[in-house]
Amino acid sequence: MSIKKFTQSLDIDMRLFEADIWNTTAHNLMLAKRGIIEKSTAKDIIKNLNDALSAFNNKKFKFSRELEDVHMNIEDYVISKGGEKCGAMHTARSRNDQVVTDTRILAREITLEIMKNLLNLSDSLIDFAERSTVIIPGYTHLQQAMPTLASHWILAYTDAFLRDFERLNDSYKRTNLCPLGSAAFAGTSFNINRHWTAKLLGFDGLIENSLDGVAGRDFIAEILADLAILSATLSRLSEELILFNSYEFGLIEISSEWTTGSSIMPQKKNLDIAELTRGKTGRIYGDLVNILVLLKGIPYSYNRDMQEDKFPLFDAGDELNSILKILAEMSKGIKFKDQEQINKKFSHEIIATDMASQLVIKGIPFRKSYNIVKNAINKGDFSEINKIAGNEISKINVENCVQSRKITGSAGYVEVERMIADRKKKIEKFYEIVEEKRKRTEGAKIMTKKEIRNLCG
Ligand code: ARG
Repeated sequence: MSIKKFTQSLDIDMRLFEADIWNTTAHNLMLAKRGIIEKSTAKDIIKNLNDALSAFNNKKFKFSRELEDVHMNIEDYVISKGGEKCGAMHTARSRNDQVVTDTRILAREITLEIMKNLLNLSDSLIDFAERSTVIIPGYTHLQQAMPTLASHWILAYTDAFLRDFERLNDSYKRTNLCPLGSAAFAGTSFNINRHWTAKLLGFDGLIENSLDGVAGRDFIAEILADLAILSATLSRLSEELILFNSYEFGLIEISSEWTTGSSIMPQKKNLDIAELTRGKTGRIYGDLVNILVLLKGIPYSYNRDMQEDKFPLFDAGDELNSILKILAEMSKGIKFKDQEQINKKFSHEIIATDMASQLVIKGIPFRKSYNIVKNAINKGDFSEINKIAGNEISKINVENCVQSRKITGSAGYVEVERMIADRKKKIEKFYEIVEEKRKRTEGAKIMTKKEIRNLCG
């Protein structure tokens, strides 16, 4: 094992290629505008950067493993094509600010993609809720507790995913800030314009302190914390789908295109997508722990440890994007069984709390009502309850339990309908947030192209 082989980061940072070209282009446009490098030199640099990108996109770019990373490979390409004078491209910059600028560009793309996929999943879940009008057993301690609405259960997860969206939207504010111009860590004596490059690269502002700019990786930790929280909810949803799909629970059916078989047991319809989603949670928590441990105790500014920061970010981002996409599709193939089949699954006692409530209506304090119902269930003798509440007790069933719930957020028909309408509007608004952010970065790309045309004609 040679030192070059051991220290290279090409395998992972190749993914920064396009961001790196944009970054270096913006930097050189600025250097030319400020008169720090000759306009003609900047023109050559930018032309060769553009060629490098075309070669890369056509899978023709030849990477050299002798060079440490994507940044050195691109610089080498530009200098070898444009001559020594193109070595000016790295004026007033260091790989330390270069790499973290690229990483922030990728981090914002990953965040946006996850935000969009969270909305697609939420959208599918709303559809699922709308077509799931049945009453199902609701659980505490995995024991039947109260009758509830399937749609209310689905909406609970939707709300959690919309909060995940909001968390990512919030961390985006701290991700989309530009460290370029920090150079090695102390800034530079060249009169660069940091605000202008930040604008060309679609950032909303600067990471102002140059030391903070190259040393800070809290944006990655924050995104990964958001993703770990999201994974926790995804794994709980997966677990419930696996349970509900079992013979014992028998609450849902999943179209066979989303299940997998067994090599020996012909009857199997396994929910591997949910099992893998649950399983990958460990990996995504691992990615969070990875970055936290990586950052623990490394002195400011740059240390080579930081080269490892991209693995957890890309891994968690890629895994979650595929999980969210497949769950959004799969949820279209899930349906609750019909009410008649589900009715067979209710325990007799599932209406116990509503019985106690009926006694409360008859004027008995709740704790006494609770004890009366508890005794009746234990003895299997309901005569005392019947004496107090008469035939109202015998009328209690899962349907009117659900009917009677009208307070905000409860598992009753009216509230579920209201929440569905409300969440639909929220999702629409959230799509606009993603769209605005995309437009902003697209706009910055267009602005950079315009500046290239101004320079190169
Ligand atoms: N390959 C490095 C990374 O990904 C680039 C920065 C190197 N900086 C340095 N001072 N050696 O982090």
